[in-house]
Amino acid sequence: MAPRRITLEDPTRFHDPANLTWERYVALQARERERYLAERAAIPAEALAFQTVSPRYLERAVEQFANNYFPEQSATRYIATAAAHAPFEELKKSCLFQLADEQRHLEMDRDVFERAGIPERDWRPAWEQPGTTCRFFQHVLELEDPIEILVKANFVAEGAAGPGSFAVLADGAEARGDLLSAVNHRARVRDETRHISFARALVRALIEENPSNLDVIQRWQDESLQLFAEMAHGGRRREWWEGFLGSYYKIALPLGLRPSPISL
Ligand SMILES: [Fe+2]
Ligand SMILES: [Fe+2]
Repeated sequence: MAPRRITLEDPTRFHDPANLTWERYVALQARERERYLAERAAIPAEALAFQTVSPRYLERAVEQFANNYFPEQSATRYIATAAAHAPFEELKKSCLFQLADEQRHLEMDRDVFERAGIPERDWRPAWEQPGTTCRFFQHVLELEDPIEILVKANFVAEGAAGPGSFAVLADGAEARGDLLSAVNHRARVRDETRHISFARALVRALIEENPSNLDVIQRWQDESLQLFAEMAHGGRRREWWEGFLGSYYKIALPLGLRPSPISL
């Protein structure tokens, strides 16, 4: 079956739910950055230097750091592609705001790797091993269709990884003395929530305009979740995986999508 492209024939069906103008976005981004820097400044120096975590934590956390850093790096790239190919201005604007957010997240995660003293040559291998988010993001980076990118990355992936799972990651890091990762996750989630809601508005508009678009979106969802399933192979990360699917289905099922047949 040839891949089917869908688009919004009537762009007036889509509105940025956050109602952001350039002026409002720039002010919001500046406030967020100030808040982030203040929260980071309040972290004791030993914690910022990763002296409060166990050596075992650090050893195991490299994979987690990579699963934060590379998705953010991927996001700066695929959302730039989506912006470049956006079929109408209102959507392009949302993508460009997101590009600035993702760039900031990327820098927060680079900071973690550097302060934790992990040599840069070890970052990518930690991500490219089996059982990471790598396969999903490599797939999205190969896409050019802006609608497919936004459905797969913003609606499905961010919708699943959304507020619930970042709260779990933040609490887990904090409990183990990794205060910087906790601050990062809590900062990141404030932006991701916005990325999810504009993607959800887009999906809703696509389905309202043409109910048969639902089949294409369902297929994109199935492909995306299957690529993520390797994170949970062999019963790994069971709790995380259930939360991941749960957050996503909470936004997807009300729009008429069905749970995906996933082989773990
Ligand atoms: Fe991000
Ligand atoms: Fe995002």
